Amino acid sequence: MSDDDIELEARLEEQEVFEPSDAFVEQANVSDPDIYQEFEENWPNCWQAAAELLDWDEEYEQVLDDSNPPFYKWFTDGKLNASANCLDRHLDERGDEVAIEWVGEPVDEDDRSFTYEELHREVNECAAALRDMGVGEDDVVTMYMPMIPELPIAMLACARIGAPHSVVFAGFSADALATRMNAADSEYLVTCDGYYRRGDPLDHLSKANEGLAGVDHEVSDVVVAERLRDGDGFGHDLADNQHAYADLVADHAGAEVAPVQRDAEDMLFLMYTSGTTGQPKGVKHTTGGYLAWASWTSQAVLDIKPEDTYFCSADIGWITGHSYIVYGPLALGTTTMMYEGTPDYPDRDRLWQIIEEYEANQLYTAPTAIRAFMKWGSEYPERNDLSSLRLLGTVGEPINPRAWKWYYKHIGNEECPIVDTWWQTETGGMMVTTLPGVKDMKPGSAGPPLPGVDAQIVDTNGDEVDAGRAGYLTVQKPWPGMLRTLYKNDERYIEEYWAEYSDTDSDDPDDWVYFPEDGAKIDDDGYITVLGRVDDVINVSGHRLGTMEIESAIVGVEGVAEAAVVGGDHEVKGEAVYAYVITEEGYDEDDDLRQRIIQGVEDAIGPIARPERVIFSPDLPKTRSGKIMRRLLEDIANEAELGDTSTLRNPEIVEDIQGKISGD
Ligand code: WT7
Repeated sequence: MSDDDIELEARLEEQEVFEPSDAFVEQANVSDPDIYQEFEENWPNCWQAAAELLDWDEEYEQVLDDSNPPFYKWFTDGKLNASANCLDRHLDERGDEVAIEWVGEPVDEDDRSFTYEELHREVNECAAALRDMGVGEDDVVTMYMPMIPELPIAMLACARIGAPHSVVFAGFSADALATRMNAADSEYLVTCDGYYRRGDPLDHLSKANEGLAGVDHEVSDVVVAERLRDGDGFGHDLADNQHAYADLVADHAGAEVAPVQRDAEDMLFLMYTSGTTGQPKGVKHTTGGYLAWASWTSQAVLDIKPEDTYFCSADIGWITGHSYIVYGPLALGTTTMMYEGTPDYPDRDRLWQIIEEYEANQLYTAPTAIRAFMKWGSEYPERNDLSSLRLLGTVGEPINPRAWKWYYKHIGNEECPIVDTWWQTETGGMMVTTLPGVKDMKPGSAGPPLPGVDAQIVDTNGDEVDAGRAGYLTVQKPWPGMLRTLYKNDERYIEEYWAEYSDTDSDDPDDWVYFPEDGAKIDDDGYITVLGRVDDVINVSGHRLGTMEIESAIVGVEGVAEAAVVGGDHEVKGEAVYAYVITEEGYDEDDDLRQRIIQGVEDAIGPIARPERVIFSPDLPKTRSGKIMRRLLEDIANEAELGDTSTLRNPEIVEDIQGKISGD
C-alpha cells in the first residue's frame, strides 16, 4: 500500500458517520427530510404513496382495515394484477427497453436479454400453457428452479392467472421440496433439467424427481425447462405428466392471456422459511400490499429509476430475489439483472466484470459476499471500471464496520451511499434502513425505521429501552408489505409473531405488536443496530436455518442418540453450523459417522446447512430441568469466555467439550 492509501485507510477507520454526496442527493428519488414527519402525521394514509406507484383496475376503498388485528387488510376492495403492473403498463413507453438482462454461466455466448415486449410475450405464452394444463385461480404452483429466465417468467405467468407461486430454492434438497409441496397441497411443479455451476452441468431433474416421489398427493403436471446444452444432459426421459417448457410455449406461440383481476388481499405467493420448530413456515404475501411495498421501497431506498440497470446478486429462491430482482424493479419498469453463476467463477472479478459490461447503477448484495470479496483482495474490483455505480446495498445479516468501509471504498469509490437494509421474509420488503438521499450513514447500524414504520426496541416487558441498551426489535404498527398469515395456520401466525408482546384478547390494534425475533439496540439519534436472532434460528451466509430442522436431520442418522446445533462465528459466512452429537451405544465416534451426519443434513435440507464441525461428546450441558444450554454451546464453539456454569446438572462436561473444540 502507498502512503496515501494508508492515510486513507486510517481516516476511514475512524470515521463513524458518512454523508451522501450532493450529487447523489440532487438526483435521488426521495430527498425531502420532511417525509418522516409527514408519514407519521398521515399514517396510515401515507401509504397511498406506495399504492400510487401501481395501476389499479379498481380503486381501493380503505387504505387499512384494522378491525380484526392481527389480520390486517390493506387497500381494501382494490383490484389489480401484478403481472400487468410489471409488464403490460410499460409496453407503450418502454416496450423496447430491456426488462431482464440475464447473464448465464459459462461465460461465453449464453447471455439472454428480454425487452418488456419480449418478456410480456413469453409470460403470456407460459400463462396460456399453465391455464390449459388446468392451473386455476388460487392453485399453488411450486417452482424449483435456479437462476434461469424461466423462473421469473413462470412467476409472472402465475401472477397473471391468479395462481400463487411457491418458489423453493434450487439448492434445497429433494426432501425440502417434498415437504413444501405437501404443506401447500401443491399439484403443479415447474422445474428444469439442470444448470451450471463453475462451468459444470448439474443434474437438477433427478433431485426434483426424488422430491416428487415424496409428495403425498397426486401431482397433476410438471413443467421442465431446458437449460443444459446438447451433450450436457443427463439422459432423462420425461414421465407422462412431465412437459418440456419449450414445447408448451411453442404450442401457445402468440397466445395472449388477459390478466386476472385480483383483489388487493388475494395471495400473490407463498414463501417457506425456517422457524424455531422443524416445520417450515408458509409465509403468505398479497397482491396489493406486497407489490406496493416492494415498489415503494425499491424506489425510495434503492433509488431505482426506469432508465437504470439494477443488479441484485441474490437468488430468486429467497425473498430478496422476489422483492428486489423481480417484483419491485419490474413494477418500476427498470432493467433488472439476473446472474446465474457464482462471484468467483471463472475468476474472482466476475461481478465487477458484469457491472462494467452492463454499466450497472446499483448493486444490492449480502455481507457474507462482501467479506469474501474483502478476503480475496481489492485487486479484483480494481481490474474493472465500476464508475457506473450510484448506490450500494446490503441485506441478510449485520454488516461489521470494517466490511462496510471496504465496500464503501473499494466498490463505491467513496461516492455511493450504502443502504444497510433490515427486513425479513415476513415483512415483504425493507423496514429499517437509511433513505439514501436524506440520511447520513453509520457503518454497522442499519439506520432509522423507514418513514411510516413504527419500530421500537423494547425489554422483556415490552417497555422501550434506553438508548444504547440492547433489547428486542418490535414493529408497533402494521405495514402494507406484511405477511397476512402463515398458510392455513392462523394460530401459528399469532403464536410466532404476535403473542410475545400483544394482548391477544384485545381487538384494539394498539394492543398488537409484531415481534420479528431479532435483538437490537438504538442510539440517541434513533439509529437501530440489529444484533441478530434471539430464537433458535441461525444465519449462515445470510440464509436462515432452523437449528431444530438440522437437529432432526442429524438424529435421523443411524448411530446418533442426541444432537444440539448452534451457530458458531465464521469469518465469511457470519455463522456456521456446529453440531454437538452424542452417539448411540455401540457406535464409534469416527469419520464414517461424521460423513453420514453431514450427508444426512445435506439430504434433508441442502448443502447450505452442512455442518462446519461435528463434535462428538458423551453428554451435552443441561440445566437441572434437562434443557440443553445452547448459549453455552455457542460460547464454547466461539471459544468465548463462559458465564456461570454452576447451575448445570453436569458441569464437568463443559471442559471435556472445550478440549475437543480447541483440540481437533
Ligand atoms: C433475518 C431475516 C431480508 C431478506 C434476506 C433474509 C437478518 C436481515 C439484516 C440486516 C442485520 C439482518 C435478521 C432477520 N437480517 N437483514 N440488514 N442487518 N440482520 O431474509 O431469511 O427472512 O431472514 O435476517 O436476523 O430476522 P430471512
